[in-house]
Order: sequence, then structure tokens, then C-alpha cells
Amino acid sequence: MPKEIKNLKDLQNTEYGLKKLFEEAEDFLPLLGTDYVELYVGNAKQAAHYYKSAFGFQSFAYAGLETGLKDRVSYVVTQDKIKLVLTSPLNKGGEINRHLEEHGDAAKVIALWVDDATSAFEETTKRGAKPFFEPRKEEDEDGHVIKSGIYTYGETVHIFVERKNYNGHFLPGFEKWESHYNPAPVGLKFIDHIVGNVGWDEMNKWCKFYAEVMGFAQIISFADDDISTEYTALMSKVMSNGNGRIKFPINEPAKAEKKSQIEEYLDFYNGPGVQHLALATDDIVATVSAMRDRGVEFLYVPDTYYDDITERVGEIDEDISLLKEHGILIDRDEEGYLLQLFTNNVLDRPTMFIEIIQRKGAQSFGVGNFKALFEAIERQQARRGTL
Ligand code: FE2
Repeated sequence: MPKEIKNLKDLQNTEYGLKKLFEEAEDFLPLLGTDYVELYVGNAKQAAHYYKSAFGFQSFAYAGLETGLKDRVSYVVTQDKIKLVLTSPLNKGGEINRHLEEHGDAAKVIALWVDDATSAFEETTKRGAKPFFEPRKEEDEDGHVIKSGIYTYGETVHIFVERKNYNGHFLPGFEKWESHYNPAPVGLKFIDHIVGNVGWDEMNKWCKFYAEVMGFAQIISFADDDISTEYTALMSKVMSNGNGRIKFPINEPAKAEKKSQIEEYLDFYNGPGVQHLALATDDIVATVSAMRDRGVEFLYVPDTYYDDITERVGEIDEDISLLKEHGILIDRDEEGYLLQLFTNNVLDRPTMFIEIIQRKGAQSFGVGNFKALFEAIERQQARRGTL
């Protein structure tokens, strides 16, 4: 297997190409897209306000005491195709409190939109997935959905959502959430990829899980010599489903002089979990600029990053001085280029962050930026005393 498949042509034409991989694979788990991501948080009401005000999400749906729930509350916010569910417990004890104590605020559920949630559960559990819950019907006056769930890395779960017989606003049990406070969207369109951090020597195990249990194919692999600085290192492989709509890079720490950022994550999260959500925009300068105005903090990118930028990435449509002003990173592969930037951690623990990405042809993940990025992360680790 080549170390890195860098462009769509490789993906389609080589013997390792996506097309061939998926022609060979039986499509036992057709996924229509990401349905929603659910975060367990300490205070869902305030978290929802943060994602609205800072990230331009819109109020969408609500479930809580007023809708008949006794033990939890959920606020759902949306922006274009992205839906985030923010859930907090209402009482002491229980599963969500235990999860919060263990992991802090966390992306618990990556929900996947399927045509048949019963078959998705059966096909994955018979291939070795650990059940989260068996297929169940949830209904209200707008129809019904079938949901089922399996575990992936750590305590993270995938919930399969079959909604073809449902015409309601979000899911049964939720009411429409209308608010008088509606900050404008910042141009976020859809989830480009979701990255998981797993433990030492566990990357291949979880790539195998996505390949064998969920029918994904590996599209890209980075060894530690690609992604290392003087001090820190990690290894990464990217798994994709058949239609390419779901992409899950999996990272594991690698040995280096000092503590890998992945190791820091594992220490604070107490195990494997979601490291970042990458959200796509088609105008990254406008998106990042709006987010900065609203108080979102991004990783500091040193001015020197831009010194040899034209040599590294060639001609691009954007004004380099604007990209430099906003600290936006650029990387090129054979298909085109991409622009990306990472927020600081959006939680108290140094665990989850958000990536903003604009693809201009490139189908890769910014490997050329990793070194510059990690040096920036290390500066923050040094300030936290965890390097
Ligand atoms: Fe990413």
C-alpha cells in the first residue's frame, strides 16, 4: 500500500483506489450521511448559546421537562446540513453524569443517517460491533423513526437513524425551538470529517473495525515521520465509507522527545474519543473573520508560516495577506488545494476542538500543515505544562 494516496485519480484508478475497494466490498451498510453529533455537556442551555453566538448555529429543536423528559434536557442547533445536539442531565447520578465525570464535555454520539436501522444494527453486530442499544421505534403524531446503536472507540457510539417514515421537525419527543436571539450563520455547511484519538498501538485495531464491521476503506495513511516535530508525534489513517460522505481519520500517539498531543488528549479524556469536528465552508476568510469577531479563539499560526507559502502551494485564488491576517493554513495536493484553520479547545479540558475547512479541489487532509500546526499546539501545551 502506498504511504499516502494524494488525489482522486489515485483513489479511483490504482489498485488501492476507492472504487476498486468498494467494488470488492459488499455494501452491507449504506450510509446516507451524518445525521447529527450529540455532545454531553455540563450545561446544555449555555452551550447552545455559545454555539449560536460564536459559531452562528440556529435554534432548531428542544426536549426537556416541558416535553415530558424527566432526567435530561437537549437543545438542538443547526447550520445548513450540520446538527449538534447538546444534552445535560437534570438529576444526580445516571449515565450522563458518570460520562461527564469521566470525560468532561464530550462528543458522545456520531449519528449516521441510514435507510434501515435494523439491518445496520444486525450487519454491524454480527461482524463484531458491541451493541449500544437494539433497534427501537420512536414515534409521535408526525410518524416514526427506527434507531439503533453500536459502540466505536472508547465510549463513543454510532446511532443509526432511519427517518424515512418521519415528517416531524427533528425526532419524536422534540419540539421546535424558537428563540428571539438569532445571530447570523457564519457560512458553515456540512461536516467534512470527524477525527478520533485512540490509545497507543490502537490505530490499526480501529481502522480494522471501520473496515470489517462498517465496510469502510482506508483512503490515506500518515506515518509518524510525516507528522512529527522535534518533540511530538502521531500516526493517522483516514477511513471513508463507500459514497465518501463519511470520513473518519483515526490518530494514535507516537513516541517522541516529549508528550504527544494525542497522549495529552488521552490523559484528560481518560481514553479514546472524538478529537475534532471539521466543518466545511465555501468562504473560509468570511467564516473565520465572523467567528473571530464573535470571540472564537483559533490556533496561533506564526507569520513565518507564510514566508515561503507560494513556493509550497503555488498560485491560489485568495489574497495571501488576508489568509495571513486570519492565520489560515494552506495545503496542496495533486487535485487542488485546501484552506483550513483550527480553533483552540472549545471545552475546559484540552480535548475537543473544531476545524474550519474549505476544499478547492483537494481531497486530502492538510498533511503539509501538520508540522506547522503541531508546533502551534506545542506552544499551548508548554503553557499548560503538559509538553
Ligand atoms: Fe481534520
